[in-house]
Amino acid sequence: MFSPEILLPGPTPIPEAVQKAMLTSMSDHRGALFAPVVERVQRRLAEMLQLEEEGAVAVIPASGTGALEAAVQNFFAPGERTLSVSTGAFGDRFAKIAERHGLLVDSLSFPWGQPFSPCDVMDQLQNNFYAGILVTHNETSTGVLNPVKELAQLLSAIPPETRPLYIVDSISGVPSVPMLMKDWGIDVVLAASQKGFMCPPGLAIVAVGGNARKLSQKVSGRGYYFDLTPYFHGQLPYTPSVSLWYGLDAALALLAEEGIDARYARHRTMAQMAAAFASAVGWTPIVASEYASPTVTAIRLEPKQTPEKLRQQVFQAGLQIAGGMGPWHQDTIRIGHVGAVSPAMLYSGLGIIAHFAAHAESGLNAAWEVWHNRITFEEA
Ligand SMILES: Cc1ncc(COP(=O)(O)O)c(C=O)c1O
Repeated sequence: MFSPEILLPGPTPIPEAVQKAMLTSMSDHRGALFAPVVERVQRRLAEMLQLEEEGAVAVIPASGTGALEAAVQNFFAPGERTLSVSTGAFGDRFAKIAERHGLLVDSLSFPWGQPFSPCDVMDQLQNNFYAGILVTHNETSTGVLNPVKELAQLLSAIPPETRPLYIVDSISGVPSVPMLMKDWGIDVVLAASQKGFMCPPGLAIVAVGGNARKLSQKVSGRGYYFDLTPYFHGQLPYTPSVSLWYGLDAALALLAEEGIDARYARHRTMAQMAAAFASAVGWTPIVASEYASPTVTAIRLEPKQTPEKLRQQVFQAGLQIAGGMGPWHQDTIRIGHVGAVSPAMLYSGLGIIAHFAAHAESGLNAAWEVWHNRITFEEA
């Protein structure tokens, strides 16, 4: 009767209002009932991401990886040179997709657990011309929030004719962390329904600024289903995932109700709770607090513990958490606090995890302290 609770970096729990919206009766996706849903979802996404007027949002039927592929296909031609800036597994994936599409990819990789250095990226641009830069905003494999705004500021000093197109994978970032495309100067942002949007997997979001949109018209014609142009306005080109659209519409209404700043603060609080808990039980939150992700926390266990065993134990107690990826899979767990997760839900999940740690009580006290201080601070 009870499904295990979720503290994953996606998919996340789905609020009841979103579940109910997805039960809306099927309707003609080219008819009068569905048209306002499409219009509202695209408008709300554009407002939230502060998209310039000449920009547009495509919501395509795919998981996040589909958005990465669509970006590579729509903005570059084979043989063009791009710079991949990778800080983990998802940055590497973006580079691989670009290579498969025939782009010449130079990779600038940073150690796992570290953010990229905007200055190093700029150094790489000194002697090379790139058509685009591919970066990850919130690297879900390590729990690092990268300085995409700082890099945007440096890139803005390059004259527009030679400035590379700046493409940001914010699949586990947006809408849980700020993303202001126009103010910051970001050309393309990629997101997915199953993370902070609190929906099931299946919709990928590609938000495109004015310059990128012009470029996509030039490159358009490669591929068919993921050619973004027909998705931008009016009727959707192919039969959409109607139920997921209803869900996303409801989720965006919940976001408006919560308030975007309150949403950011909720995730920041939970990241601090998870890190404080980990340190106090005797484990290691791997990423330094200055660039720790608000949506996922990577924690190195004690040497005698394995993530597989711990995940199995907490699963038996009714909780799902994630393991480490790539080089971290043998000693690391990841606790997700994205989407429809409250500090109270996180705290009760930490209560289960604490049973398998050396200093359970200290861990829970530390998490409570962060949370309680925040409540007191917000009420003051
Ligand atoms: C930063 C990032 N990029 C890309 C992806 C790939 O998305 P999906 O698994 O939805 O295809 C993920 C998924 O976790 C992600 O976190």
